[in-house]
Amino acid sequence: MKGIILAGGHGTRLRPLTLVTSKQLLPIYDQPMIFYPLQTLLKAGIKEVLVIVAPDHARDFLKLLSSGQELGCKFSYEVQDEPNGLAQAFVIGKNFIGHDNVTLILGDNIFEDDFAQAIQSFKQGGRVFVKKVPDPARFGVAEFDQDGKVISIEEKPKQPKSDYAVTGLYIYDNTVVEKVKNLKLSDRGELEITDLNNVYLKEGSLDVAVVKGKWLDTGTFESLFEAITFVRDQRLNEQNKK
Ligand code: DAU
Repeated sequence: MKGIILAGGHGTRLRPLTLVTSKQLLPIYDQPMIFYPLQTLLKAGIKEVLVIVAPDHARDFLKLLSSGQELGCKFSYEVQDEPNGLAQAFVIGKNFIGHDNVTLILGDNIFEDDFAQAIQSFKQGGRVFVKKVPDPARFGVAEFDQDGKVISIEEKPKQPKSDYAVTGLYIYDNTVVEKVKNLKLSDRGELEITDLNNVYLKEGSLDVAVVKGKWLDTGTFESLFEAITFVRDQRLNEQNKK
């Protein structure tokens, strides 16, 4: 299993914090944001990680993460010239992925859960993770049938069909590289991960699991603040246990 961390984009919603640095390098309590999604991949035993970054900040990521030797993994780097959509990660990452399966995690997503079992047991199709949220319209939203099976996913719907957001951790088999070639740009001009998930859904091969612990997408000031206090509480709890 290969891993990709998507850490590009302009971070527009977090300006002026992101005028001189990348969102994914901003501090979340005692670590740069990208360390959290990276830990999620490393804890699952992923040893080869592609970091996709925006052109302005490539050097900073290299300085922070280097080769990966110290962490017992190997980093590769690619530049995404423009933020043309999450699914573009599989176009940019084609050679890196090779013949393997791949887990994509967004560089601004922080998960409390451990995904080692979900990643290591993965064989084929796609696997995504949903979480009940108070503000689903900000996300990709799952629609369920009467039996609780997911039947569609909508990207940022005005009238969400459920409260379950699709989180920024996606596991795909190697057919993702072919599937992404057939995606069309959305109305906002992006290769949408939601369209990709719907391809797997239509094929009947998308597994949807529920995230139990905390999940944070740190794309807004409020969620950034929430993430910092969440990590601080965790650290203090750990210290108190010692
Ligand atoms: O966090 C989960 C959500 O992530 C999903 O529920 C949505 O379906 C998915 O579209 C995405 O929504 P966001 O509104 O959070 O996407 P955003 O444009 O903020 O991009 C997420 C991260 O990926 C962000 O850190 C920037 C980075 N990014 C984004 C795009 C579009 C890139 O590196 N390249 C890109 O082309």
